[in-house]
Parts: sequence; C-alpha cells; structure tokens
Amino acid sequence: MKKLLLSLAVTSALLATITPVCAYEKGDWVVRVGMTSVAPDDSSSNVVVGGTDLGIGVSVDNNTQLGLNFVYFFKPRLAIEVLAATPFSHDIGLDTVGALGSTKHLPPTISANYYFADPSAKLQPYVGAGINYTVFFDEEFTSANSDAGFSELELDNSLGLAAQVGVDYMLNQNWLLNASIRWIDIDTEANFDLNGSAGSVDVDIDPFVYSITAGYRF
Ligand code: NI
Repeated sequence: MKKLLLSLAVTSALLATITPVCAYEKGDWVVRVGMTSVAPDDSSSNVVVGGTDLGIGVSVDNNTQLGLNFVYFFKPRLAIEVLAATPFSHDIGLDTVGALGSTKHLPPTISANYYFADPSAKLQPYVGAGINYTVFFDEEFTSANSDAGFSELELDNSLGLAAQVGVDYMLNQNWLLNASIRWIDIDTEANFDLNGSAGSVDVDIDPFVYSITAGYRF
C-alpha cells in the first residue's frame, strides 16, 4: 500500500511538472497553414511622365493567399517566425481613371515573437517585430493601357520593418489555432515607359496583413 501511495505521489508529481501541456519549450517547432490577406493602407505620389506631373496617384487592392508560418522557439517565451505564402496578386488602379495594371509579390518576413502569458494557459498571445523583404514580379499593364503605349512596368523591391500581434490557442499538446495581424512597411517606386517617355510613381503600400491558420507543434 505504501508502495502504491508512493508511486501515486511520484506519478502526480511528474504529472504536475508535465501538466502545463500548452507551454512552449526551447527547441519547439510550430508550422502553421491557413489564409493570409494583404490589405494595403496605401498612399502614393502623383504619377510623373516625361517630367510632367499628371496630378493623380495610384492605388493597390487587397489579396488573399495561402499563408505559411514556420516558428522556432529558442527560449520558452521567445520564438523566431518566418512568414511565407503563395504569391499575392494585386491590381493597381490609376486614381479616378481606372485599372492601370497589376503585380505579383512575395513578402517573406522574419520576426522575433515574445509570448507573455502564463505558460500553462491555452491562450498564448504574443507581440513581434521583424524585417520584411518584398519581391515584386510579373508587373504588367492592362491590355488597354498596353495598347495605349504603356510598357515596361517595373516595381522596386522593398526592405522594411514589420510589427505584429497574434495569439495561439492550444487545442492540445500538438494542435493549435492562430490569428495574427501584422503591419509591414512596404514602399516601392514604379517605373514604366509611355510612348518613349519615362514615367514613375512612388507608392507606400504599408499593408495590414491578417492571418487565420491552424498549427502543429513538434
Ligand atoms: Ni511605408
């Protein structure tokens, strides 16, 4: 009986140390998959062609893609996270005129995230800050604008800061749900040609990026 009580005591002591099943540990990996939406909070300079200010700017619309997060905990409360996604595709509009063209981009972002809740809590909020590098590709004018003489659209890649808040909801030891909101500083200069005249416009895309994902910890 004494042995049984002792082993029960040992077992419950062990369980007590293991019980915060939700706590992240050094060396944990989390992979999350879900939807990521890029919603530009954009502003732009006026478009200039051949030295002439056209007096109008451009705007960039929203896009949602498959989002992927890779998270590594190098301390129980500190993680490095990489945001990846399938390529985002945005229409670019010429203010008051209509569709101008489109571009695709990939916005890989690396962040350091700090988890501040009780480690045993199922709800694990965090704040993060990091660096974004946005690569633009497949820039093109609409066929009507191409016919009108627009060509060679090219957007400069962007390097900028990123900040985020997010939360993991631990379903069990391995599975979790996540929601996050990021703000990313993405600024670019678009250059193009219009019937032999060089054109350009500066665009601050500065999107809010919303993600809803399911994650697996291992
Ligand atoms: Ni900006």
